[in-house]
Amino acid sequence: MRLWPQTLLWRTVLLIAALLVVAHLTWLQIFRASEIEPRALQAAQQVVSVVNLTRAALVTAEPARRFALLNELAEREGIQVYSGDPAEASPPLPERQFLRIMERRLRQDLGPQTRLALEREGIKGVWVSFRIDSEEFWVLLPRSRIERNEPLRWIGWGALVLVLALIGAFLVVARINRPLRELTRAAEQLGRGATPPRIAETGPVEIRTLAHAFNNMAADIQRQDEERALLLAGVSHDLRTPLARIRLALEMLDDRGASDLKAGVTQDIGDIDTAIGQFLDFARPIDAETVTTDTDLNALVQAVVERYTRHGRTVRFTPAPLPQLPLRVQAMQRLLTNLIDNALHHGGDVVDISTGVDGKMTYLEVLDRGPGIPEADAERMLQPFTRMDSARSTSGTGLGLAIVDRIARLHRGMVKLLPRQGGGLCARVELPSAPQAE
Ligand SMILES: Nc1ncnc2c1ncn2[C@@H]1O[C@H](COP(=O)(O)OP(=O)(O)O)[C@@H](O)[C@H]1O
Ligand SMILES: [Mg+2]
Repeated sequence: MRLWPQTLLWRTVLLIAALLVVAHLTWLQIFRASEIEPRALQAAQQVVSVVNLTRAALVTAEPARRFALLNELAEREGIQVYSGDPAEASPPLPERQFLRIMERRLRQDLGPQTRLALEREGIKGVWVSFRIDSEEFWVLLPRSRIERNEPLRWIGWGALVLVLALIGAFLVVARINRPLRELTRAAEQLGRGATPPRIAETGPVEIRTLAHAFNNMAADIQRQDEERALLLAGVSHDLRTPLARIRLALEMLDDRGASDLKAGVTQDIGDIDTAIGQFLDFARPIDAETVTTDTDLNALVQAVVERYTRHGRTVRFTPAPLPQLPLRVQAMQRLLTNLIDNALHHGGDVVDISTGVDGKMTYLEVLDRGPGIPEADAERMLQPFTRMDSARSTSGTGLGLAIVDRIARLHRGMVKLLPRQGGGLCARVELPSAPQAE
């Protein structure tokens, strides 16, 4: 698993989170450092007054009342007094700045022999020694007297602030990100050849400018598409009509020994007509047709195959069970006729077609026993106007496979020109089986 997220949103949120945590910890440190001295001095002050009071009580009380006095101190204030021995070694004091400051202050106020400990005779608490004449006493105070009441509370508040700041950061970044996401989606659509709807030109200036530029670009592309379609429709009409008239005139001409010539001209006219058809198909805005959900690809293939067999061509079809697919029916028919025409034209007299499912995709294969296409040229042949040298002497435009490739990609699929087992070409179209939203 990759921990560094891929989206702008989460990267920014993570970065802000890191910054906040660092800032927070820094502040905590600064706060602790600046607060430690006043807190130690305040604690020392408290201890000093307790010790002074205790000592005064001990000194002034009659010896008979001392015991009762000590008991009362213990009960009311949680303060206990033990007698000690000046010769005994000082219990160790943990090396902490807070305690050092406190000890220093205690010695200033109570005399240089004052000792401070956190544990003595196995009892934990704040131990402070004092002297009356040469006798030593220890006062034991509960530790809560010198400790910060709830250190954890600070961490809790800190965490709360952090979480709030993070939620804020997430909302801010998500807000900035939304138009970007919309733009990305539109750019993807445009990249596939579809026309995205105009995106909203709102938000901060940079985003607005970007959206505006993108909308302009998309509109330009669409306008060019439309103009191109218009131009080609015009060309088609203006070329095909006279062609049809010439063909008709030829039929009506009697032969007078020029039947070869007539057949040749008829053939040429047919080729020109086919070429015009190819140019039109290639220039057609490809997403013009709407998607028909739940199309039966097998039935579609079967219908096209029957058209060929009616004209006496040998096209055999082996269907396999397929899921229903969202397809553009006319485009798919065009894809199939281009592949079958190629197989008959460049390949051989017998064409095999099969369909099937392979993992998550549906495939359609058009196979022939011709010369095939060398692997090194396969990718290139999908480009418009490219043809193998061997095909130069025959009619054709070099647009057929480019049209096939475009239609396949429009359906989120792809075309592969593979060598067929035992010789020939296997033109394979792979389409995703799972229906995907456009
Ligand atoms: N089934 C096939 N067998 C052998 N070569 C093929 C086959 N299909 C296409 N080709 C080669 O790919 C080239 C490009 O095909 P295409 O784009 O349909 O153009 P066209 O058929 O107009 O020449 C063809 O000129 C031919 O050289
Ligand atoms: Mg072709």
